[in-house]
Amino acid sequence: MLRGLTIFFLTLKLAAGADPATHGDAVPDKSWNQTRTFSDGGTVTDEPFGIYGHQPVRLYTLTNTNGVSVSIMDYGAEIVRILAPDRNGKLGDIALGYDHFLPYIASSHYFGATIGRYANRIAKGRFTLGKTVYQLPLNDGPNSLHGGTRGFDKRRWETEPVDSDTPAVRFTRMSPDGEEGYPGNLYVSVTYSLNNANELRIAYTATTDQPTVINLTNHTYFNLGGADTILDDVVTIHADSYTPVDATQIPTGEIKPVEGTPFDFRAGQTIGARLKEAGGKPVGYDHNFVLSKGWFSNWAEAAEVIDPKSGRTLTVSTDQPGLQFYTGNFLDGTGPTGRGGQVFRQYDAFTLETQHYPDSPNHDNFPSTVLLPGDTFTSATVYAFGVEK
Ligand code: BGC
Repeated sequence: MLRGLTIFFLTLKLAAGADPATHGDAVPDKSWNQTRTFSDGGTVTDEPFGIYGHQPVRLYTLTNTNGVSVSIMDYGAEIVRILAPDRNGKLGDIALGYDHFLPYIASSHYFGATIGRYANRIAKGRFTLGKTVYQLPLNDGPNSLHGGTRGFDKRRWETEPVDSDTPAVRFTRMSPDGEEGYPGNLYVSVTYSLNNANELRIAYTATTDQPTVINLTNHTYFNLGGADTILDDVVTIHADSYTPVDATQIPTGEIKPVEGTPFDFRAGQTIGARLKEAGGKPVGYDHNFVLSKGWFSNWAEAAEVIDPKSGRTLTVSTDQPGLQFYTGNFLDGTGPTGRGGQVFRQYDAFTLETQHYPDSPNHDNFPSTVLLPGDTFTSATVYAFGVEK
């Protein structure tokens, strides 16, 4: 009860904008309050979605010539809705979210959000760079999760038009030195674009003025059937190994073969087939897969999901070394009601979060997440929406 009241008042306070740290709270460019058409025939429409910090929250809808659309708001640079066709060409919403802006402020599920500065967990919220030990807020038991108490998902981003042939929108933010305990002024951008092959591309860049760590991802919860169970979805993950975790979901440091385990998705298996064997508290998949890469390029297909009922498919490609496959284990039916009156329950949706491995700053055998001044961090992921042939 007390927790509920606290969240209620915090929500009101944040919505009223009593928030001195709202960086990037610039007045949105009024010229965007319209539909822009791009040379491939796609459009971006800008509309108000709510109020935050006394300013309208803007919702940008990218639509291609097939009618596929992706709506993203400048709060959290967050995907709010994805409309994609089923095998009969009927468009349906395949991303979990809310009808209105307000529930996004209180939500702890990171629906559709851009996650930073460090996606996933950092053990005890602590890491060392050079001789300095940095302490982050602990917001997940003994660990720091998804950028801390108020990560990139709970910040307003600035919006920039993009010079592009396909509908696109770019969000930027200047994350100040010390924000959520991380060193360095970090200038970060995330660009969403949607082409006529029904491919949503998410591209990130970041620069810093001090050595820091970075790991960015998108946290969209997909349900390819709209509101059906995901347990019958067939998932393929191109990973020969994964990073086992301890009881607090911190990697043990091992890179373990998936062979003979419930984590072997190489030939495709339904989510439900071995979900219980995956264990965990709560039970389900919530693991980082070590993606198999080719010899010549880091860019590779990471995963494919087929929803047999609707015929919808989702293919994920990325340049990132890891993929967190999460089956919504912590969705427990509480919290604000979602779009169309949906109550969010366990296994109502999955995420495929392309990323560096969890807790990389504390594991020398994992690919490095250090970003140095003078270097530019770049990464990209494509989510392609298709139908089964
Ligand atoms: C994590 C889960 C966490 C969830 C929060 C996922 O990326 O792996 O453990 O509960 O995000 O929504």
